[in-house]
Amino acid sequence: MSDKVVAVLGATGVVGQQMLRCLEERGYPVDRLVPLASARSVGGTVTFHGEGVPVAEATPDAFEGVDIVLAAAGDGIARRLLPEAVRRGAVCVDNSHAFRLDEDVPLVIPEINGDDVRWHSGIIANPNCATVIGLVPLWPLHQVAGLTRIIASTYQAASGAGKPGLDELVRELGCVAAGEPVGETAPFAYQLAANLIPQIGGERDDAYTSEEVKMGSEGRKIMHLPSLRVNCTCVRVPVMRSHSESITAEFERPITPEQAREALEAAPGVKVVDDLGAARYPMPLDTSDQDLIHVGRIRRDTSAPDGVSAITLFCCGDQVRKGAATNAVQIAELLV
Ligand SMILES: NC(=O)c1ccc[n+]([C@@H]2O[C@H](COP(=O)([O-])OP(=O)(O)OC[C@H]3O[C@@H](n4cnc5c(N)ncnc54)[C@H](OP(=O)(O)O)[C@@H]3O)[C@@H](O)[C@H]2O)c1
Repeated sequence: MSDKVVAVLGATGVVGQQMLRCLEERGYPVDRLVPLASARSVGGTVTFHGEGVPVAEATPDAFEGVDIVLAAAGDGIARRLLPEAVRRGAVCVDNSHAFRLDEDVPLVIPEINGDDVRWHSGIIANPNCATVIGLVPLWPLHQVAGLTRIIASTYQAASGAGKPGLDELVRELGCVAAGEPVGETAPFAYQLAANLIPQIGGERDDAYTSEEVKMGSEGRKIMHLPSLRVNCTCVRVPVMRSHSESITAEFERPITPEQAREALEAAPGVKVVDDLGAARYPMPLDTSDQDLIHVGRIRRDTSAPDGVSAITLFCCGDQVRKGAATNAVQIAELLV
């Protein structure tokens, strides 16, 4: 692999910082790192392979000479700057929602549709974090029995709202422990500590939120399953890191919990943690700061009409790593 000039857009944020760690851990061939953020961060540095690298302001010209951009700075910034980077010859892997459903932009989870990177025209999108964590374990079950429908509830960590979300939960936990009122709760609409909030994203006309429709729209594109039906409820919970999901999946053909377990045990990116009798199941503290999606509570959906073609499971994964940074670096690996 020839070494690449790699820009990280949003290098000071939760996902950007994790991207730097993932590039280091995975030995990505970086010739030169270009950390980019807002004007607020100019003058600061990020640490890469033990060295401080100055942060530059993200402007169109900052992408001159860059081969690969790993972007984690939000929809508006991605829309404004990534076409400029492409115009200057870079290939961009973007974590925002901006381009995910565009027809000329592959939306990729390497364990599922890594081949789709081949038809990119400069931008490749990383899926929504809850979508990645749910789909990685559903894909091997689809190979066994043909996935037709997903009913999911998510339990999403505070760091899913970026550094401001993580900092706010830490602050609120301190207030709650001290018996003090929490006051202003931004970026959350309500106090999150000792609470949960059943809204992530904005309201849509159909009474779902913008976050809740992503698993369907993105899942159909990633798995090449245009008629997949998905019903999702997304909930913010007072967890620092790692999203959890309760999923019931329906299939064309019968599938037993044993077949599901066997397929999951052989699947890349998945670890089966499933022994109810021994109180072993996926939990966010166990999946934080590592890349595997833990899957457990695997059981038959006894309410399914035919009783044999639906499986219920619980999964957890680090949404900053596999839900964002690791997945993006895996895509960047496919590019070299
Ligand atoms: N957090 C997650 O779990 C997660 C998971 C999957 C996808 N994502 C997506 O990843 C993206 C980043 O999320 P995050 O959680 O890392 O957010 P974050 O912690 O708030 O970081 C945001 C980053 O964007 C930079 N930024 C803000 N305004 C900018 C501007 N005008 N020009 C250039 N850079 C600017 C910030 O730089 P400054 O420090 O200079 O402000 C910071 O580096 C979002 O699209 C998010 O939806 C997040």
